[in-house]
Amino acid sequence: MTSSTVDALFADRIPVLNAPMGGVAGGALASAVSRAGGLGMIGMGSSGSTTSLRRQLAAVTDGVEVGIGLVDWVVQRDPEMLETALDASPLLLSVSFGETYEWIGRAHERGVPAVAQVSDAPTAERALAAGADALVARGSEGGGHGRPLHDRDTLLDALLALTDRPVFAAGAIATAEDVRRVLGRGARAAWVGTAFTACHEALSSPGSRRALLAAGPEDTVLTSAFDQASGYGWPSDIPERVIANDATRRWGAALDDGDVDVAGRELRAATEADDPSGMSVNAGLGVGELRAERSAAEVVAALDPR
Ligand SMILES: Cc1cc2nc3c(=O)[nH]c(=O)nc-3n(C[C@H](O)[C@H](O)[C@H](O)COP(=O)(O)O)c2cc1C
Repeated sequence: MTSSTVDALFADRIPVLNAPMGGVAGGALASAVSRAGGLGMIGMGSSGSTTSLRRQLAAVTDGVEVGIGLVDWVVQRDPEMLETALDASPLLLSVSFGETYEWIGRAHERGVPAVAQVSDAPTAERALAAGADALVARGSEGGGHGRPLHDRDTLLDALLALTDRPVFAAGAIATAEDVRRVLGRGARAAWVGTAFTACHEALSSPGSRRALLAAGPEDTVLTSAFDQASGYGWPSDIPERVIANDATRRWGAALDDGDVDVAGRELRAATEADDPSGMSVNAGLGVGELRAERSAAEVVAALDPR
């Protein structure tokens, strides 16, 4: 497996991938993005499992090819996910938010390009040494989880100085102009999350869509409180960027240990009621550009840099 394989993936594609977003990017979104000329990805996040991955793979339509993105600590908990992902022969595989890197060799054995999403240069160096075929420069502007260490363009420049392998840019890419800007800096493609969250084909709930469409660029915060309240195994130095709401105003960036049980009950109730004032709605700084629910094809066309 070489980086030229990743380059070849974009020879005839619009240089836009939908980020693998747990609970948002299932088979329907991924296949719609691929069909529209981008590279669609299925994401399995904190609550991902082999069962839900199989369900989303079955939702891929018309036999289009897609990529798959997993989360490292979730794969450690449910190792069959990795095998299931590779059995599907994805266009590429990413495993984010951890540094085990055995998955890179496993992907290569099956001829699948391995893409590592990183937040700083030292992590990028380790991923490259482990054989990653491409990197994602995930800036602190981005929605969802990530170590908020550098802004996107600073990180992109730093990673491009480290390697000739392809680097994708991620974080607040919301318009064709944003895509042109990162390509102009040397990115091979844009890895876009938030802009796809309110697509018809996404798995996001009606309540989270309402919050996404109402939010402006100043309305996001970084917090680990929802992860603590959920009991998820996120490392404490990897917060998530979410839309600020009543819960984040009360809980702040992290919960005190004594508040975790009560917060857990409140979070479960809000999530069951699909009440965005109390649940985690992941979004990056580009969320202000989201104004209406659209099809994935419309979003890909709106991001097309040509
Ligand atoms: C709703 C949502 C869920 C996400 N879930 C995942 C995930 O499961 N795995 C992953 O690698 N990244 C995940 N991310 C982060 C993306 O890979 C990417 O870093 C980010 O979306 C880029 O920034 P943007 O949202 O501003 O486009 C998620 C992002 C969002 C917005």
